[in-house]
Amino acid sequence: MVEPVLKAVFPVAGLGTRFLPATKALPKEMLTVVDKPLIQYAVEEAREAGIEDFIFVTGAGGELFKSHFGPAAGLEEALRERGNDEALASVLDCLIDEDHMHVTPQSRPLGLGHAVGCARGLVGDAPFAVLLADDIILARPGGLRQMVDAYGETGGNIVALEDVPREMTARYGVMDVEEDLGHMVRARGLVEKPEPKDAPSTLAVIGRYILQPEVFGHLARGEKGAGGEIQLTDAIAATIGQIPLHGIRFEKRYDCGNRLGFIEANIAIALARDDLRDSVRQMLEAYP
Ligand code: UTP
Repeated sequence: MVEPVLKAVFPVAGLGTRFLPATKALPKEMLTVVDKPLIQYAVEEAREAGIEDFIFVTGAGGELFKSHFGPAAGLEEALRERGNDEALASVLDCLIDEDHMHVTPQSRPLGLGHAVGCARGLVGDAPFAVLLADDIILARPGGLRQMVDAYGETGGNIVALEDVPREMTARYGVMDVEEDLGHMVRARGLVEKPEPKDAPSTLAVIGRYILQPEVFGHLARGEKGAGGEIQLTDAIAATIGQIPLHGIRFEKRYDCGNRLGFIEANIAIALARDDLRDSVRQMLEAYP
């Protein structure tokens, strides 16, 4: 029996430079896709996967996460008075119980690995999930749910994967495949941002992870990797041999950290909603 994954870390302290000026005062993860901030999609996915504790690693603007997921007595009262049950339900849906919401700062944006390392004290000696809210995975069951189910069988570290065009490998951590079981892949290694000619495969790591606490030990060394940043994939790679690493393939992921992916996510999510599909389709027809 593996130890259950009950805690999730949400690193939300990046500078979001590809989205400036929108991210000058607003963290990227608070940008809205249709009618919810990116971070809420990730929190809902985590909840569906059985996560009980939500840990936000924040930079400037960190207070916004607390307010978004905390109570809003005045607003709730006003909506109740107006009898606007639908809006009230959407506000109450956001709530994370105070005892289960944890916010910790990343003093400087030194990289994703460093941000995850900042959560070490709150995670403790237990397996944990990491969700990058700028990746939206549309899957049924949800992305993290599928990974938790696989984890029940394999244990160890698990990453989400997307098959990307070879010319894009230099943007990702890329898996060196030991055994390809279709939906699941067993790794013999992980390479951060390889040039296309050096990439061991085209299976790229995307923003969902289930990790063992041993990863923190490697992160604590503060070793800089690609781009001079402390990379999470380097710490995961360092545990291979000691901890098995598997990847779960996902078909469709929207990279909302760049403009095109963000626009596509808005369209795709609107088209997936019964209340918006027809009118959005009609609207798009005006742009042949
Ligand atoms: P990204 O590299 O996509 O985010 O990091 P970024 O650095 O904010 O974006 P650009 O490249 O400047 O546009 C992936 C995730 O890790 C978080 C980000 O907030 C994002 O969710 N992150 C990254 C941190 O929390 N701290 C960091 O030091 C770096």
